[in-house]
Amino acid sequence: AVRHFLDLDLLDATTLRGILEDAKAMKAGRTGLAKGAADRKAPLNGDLLLMIFQKSSTRTRISFEVAMRQLGGAASDLDGSRLQLGRGESIADTARVLSAYGDAIVLRTDHHNNLTEMARYASIPVINALTDHSHPCQLMADMLTFEEANGPIKGQSVAWLGDGNNVATSMIHAAMRFDFRLRLACPSGHLPDADVLAAAQAEGADVVVTDDPVEAVKGARAIYTDTWSSMGQERAPSELAPFEPYRVTTDLMAHAAPDALFLHCLPAHRGEEVTDAVMDGPQSAVWEQAENRLHAQKAILNWCLNRSC
Ligand code: CP
Ligand code: NVA
Repeated sequence: AVRHFLDLDLLDATTLRGILEDAKAMKAGRTGLAKGAADRKAPLNGDLLLMIFQKSSTRTRISFEVAMRQLGGAASDLDGSRLQLGRGESIADTARVLSAYGDAIVLRTDHHNNLTEMARYASIPVINALTDHSHPCQLMADMLTFEEANGPIKGQSVAWLGDGNNVATSMIHAAMRFDFRLRLACPSGHLPDADVLAAAQAEGADVVVTDDPVEAVKGARAIYTDTWSSMGQERAPSELAPFEPYRVTTDLMAHAAPDALFLHCLPAHRGEEVTDAVMDGPQSAVWEQAENRLHAQKAILNWCLNRSC
């Protein structure tokens, strides 16, 4: 079967743990190498990644491009606005055509249905680079960041603050598969997807939603937040009022474990979901997270293309 990377809940725990351990190995293997140099083993020699970004991206787009280069392959950013897709050619037909040219497809799109449609008709792996529903690649980098600082995540407590949308969905999926305790504090009207939550709880995941930020962060070894104004769901300043109690401040961090990490997928709206003092403070691991996108992306590519390092 084609190895798509669409959502963490579609993969089993052993597969995801394998990808995470490979990400650690890929990172360790870079010691002493220049950023533009290939990895010592370059398993994707000759492979071509085709990337379609229908929304802005700094980290995901560039880390995939650098990952392919360091793995010995190449990436092509297809500039969504210049594809016939933008003039109405179907996703299914685009998928069939791209499958003839490249070895894997990366897609960032508004509607999750576009992604599943691409995967249905592509005969090469399709990777979710963020949709309105989820952001699984991000969570692989976040698991790496957590475990580097605080050890195996299994059984540990993590808190999510703020908007319960796409990154929160992947966080819930991660809690199911990596077996950690997750508390999400979100304003009403911006709660996590009810089906995602119910499915996680039905599988026995320790995931609970509350409206109390202090309750959520109690004892947590990582506090994670995301923008209150996602791409395609931009909010006017007046619409942000319900989110105010969920801002990550130094005071809120003080209710978590003393060594709790501050995590953010970025880009941040400083002063909204997080203060400068926390973003730039000693517990912040946001730059490590951004770097780890590169190492995690490599492990995802290795798995999708079924190459071993
Ligand atoms: N975190 C993340 O996906 O960032 P970009 O939107 O810059 O890719
Ligand atoms: N929730 C944010 C994540 C960006 C990486 C968005 O969808 O814009």
